[in-house]
Amino acid sequence: MQEIIRQLEEKRAAARLGGGEKRIEAQHAKGKLTARERIALFLDEGSFEEWDMFVEHDCHDFGMDEQRTPGDGVVTGHGLVNGRPVFVFSQDFTVFGGSLSAAHARKICKIMDQAMKVGVPVIGLNDSGGARIQEGVASLAGYADVFQRNVLASGVVPQISLIMGPCAGGAVYSPAMTDFIFMVKDSSYMFVTGPEVVKTVTNEEVTAEDLGGAITHTSKSGVADLAFADDVEALLQLRRFLGYLPLNNREAPPVRPTDDPADRQDMSLDTLVPDNPNKPYDMKELIAKIADEGEFFELQPDHAGNIVIGFARIDGHPVGVVANQPMVLAGCLDIDSSKKAARFVRFCDAFNIPLVTLVDVPGFLPGTAQEYNGIIKHGAKLLFAYAEATVPKVTVITRKAYGGAYDVMSSKHLRGDVNYAWPSAEIAVMGPKGAVEIIFRADRDDPDKIARRTEEYRQKFANPFVAGSLGFIDDVIQPHGTRRRLAKALRLLRNKQLENPWKKHDNIPL
Ligand code: HXC
Repeated sequence: MQEIIRQLEEKRAAARLGGGEKRIEAQHAKGKLTARERIALFLDEGSFEEWDMFVEHDCHDFGMDEQRTPGDGVVTGHGLVNGRPVFVFSQDFTVFGGSLSAAHARKICKIMDQAMKVGVPVIGLNDSGGARIQEGVASLAGYADVFQRNVLASGVVPQISLIMGPCAGGAVYSPAMTDFIFMVKDSSYMFVTGPEVVKTVTNEEVTAEDLGGAITHTSKSGVADLAFADDVEALLQLRRFLGYLPLNNREAPPVRPTDDPADRQDMSLDTLVPDNPNKPYDMKELIAKIADEGEFFELQPDHAGNIVIGFARIDGHPVGVVANQPMVLAGCLDIDSSKKAARFVRFCDAFNIPLVTLVDVPGFLPGTAQEYNGIIKHGAKLLFAYAEATVPKVTVITRKAYGGAYDVMSSKHLRGDVNYAWPSAEIAVMGPKGAVEIIFRADRDDPDKIARRTEEYRQKFANPFVAGSLGFIDDVIQPHGTRRRLAKALRLLRNKQLENPWKKHDNIPL
């Protein structure tokens, strides 16, 4: 018995040491924490229960018999974040570069299987050189086992990837199938093929950072949702982020009591929309003013800025906010913004998070670049996502709601539950200028007539009353009372029941 306990302590110590002091120092020298330090920071103090600390690889080739570290390059288990359970795996770069062996993969699969059974999120802290080269195809099989579970868990429990080191080759596809990807600046990268292969194949010279660093993926590609300065900031923000999410798809999101009154008015909103319909204003100001304590957890702020997405709370309850941003491309919908918002809407719908949509949209972005790259298919994603969503949907049109984009943005016609408009709303098939140019083409050489016609059109359609008379909006509300009206609508909708027809799955345009 004593002997077993001694051996146990020895193995635990070996597991805790990972790849040894020198490699831990090297990890720190890169500004990175170790796998265990990350878990300790991420979870509530003392809450971590480690599983499979004694698992070792079963590879005998290339001298691997002599090189075994208990745990085999990944720390797995469960713990609490602000008192709520999560499963976590944290790849240990000090052990074979965090590379994925068959045993390493089995450990990840085990916690994913259990997470699905008990309905608890899975958090991956990724820091890995990819497939364990010594194991060859067994490692590829391990990846595929993880991929399969990512797919089965999708929409069942939230899955979040935090990329904290290398993540390359096919290994990127596990994070890619999780719900959110956060990255650490300067120390993490993701790419399917690295700079050397790129140079050989396309003759392009690019650094790992430029090809797949945090800035690239949160601005250009839109692959990642957020970039953080270092490990500590990333882990602490991830804790905060989890506070908006339910543990699984059968739960309501967590309520956080607030001292911010649900009926708080904000008179400054009455002058938010400029008199000139072509002048932009910052939609994020409206979001801050309707959210509890002004708190908004924005996602993808540097990608497709013409649409804003993120989580807030109203009356203590989390909501997903989708808002056109007049400050960028006049808030129009284009390929990137449609894709960005569509995936977010689908996440919220899968996890019972009500949607608040703030609309000021002049239409879809015209141009060959958009058409050639498939705006038809990509724009349809957002339309599809809103139309299939059964969570509470509350919409406020602040200004423009033109054309097909009006339909898309959680309109009444896509089963919007409560649709409000501000007095400044203009709900029409298109803007007055464009409309007059088409229907009064014969008058195009007579500027006075065109001006008169435009004013006539503006008077008739650039207001909320035509849509109101048809019941397409439920009420015209004063901007200063927006928070109160949203809170009231969301309270009303708390027990909303709506089901889509039975199907194996839908066929959203991909
Ligand atoms: C086994 C690995 C490894 C791997 C790194 N190591 N990657 N061991 N399998 N894939 C080991 C190194 O031998 C070294 O061991 C230690 O980890 C640290 O690696 P370094 O190279 O010293 O670190 P660094 O300079 O920071 O470079 C990190 C790296 C580089 C860029 C990740 O190690 C690298 O390029 N690794 C190989 C990447 C790769 O080709 N992976 C397979 C891709 S295929 P010692 O003992 O010296 O500390 C793939 C397919 C997945 O992943 C498909 C899924 C479908």
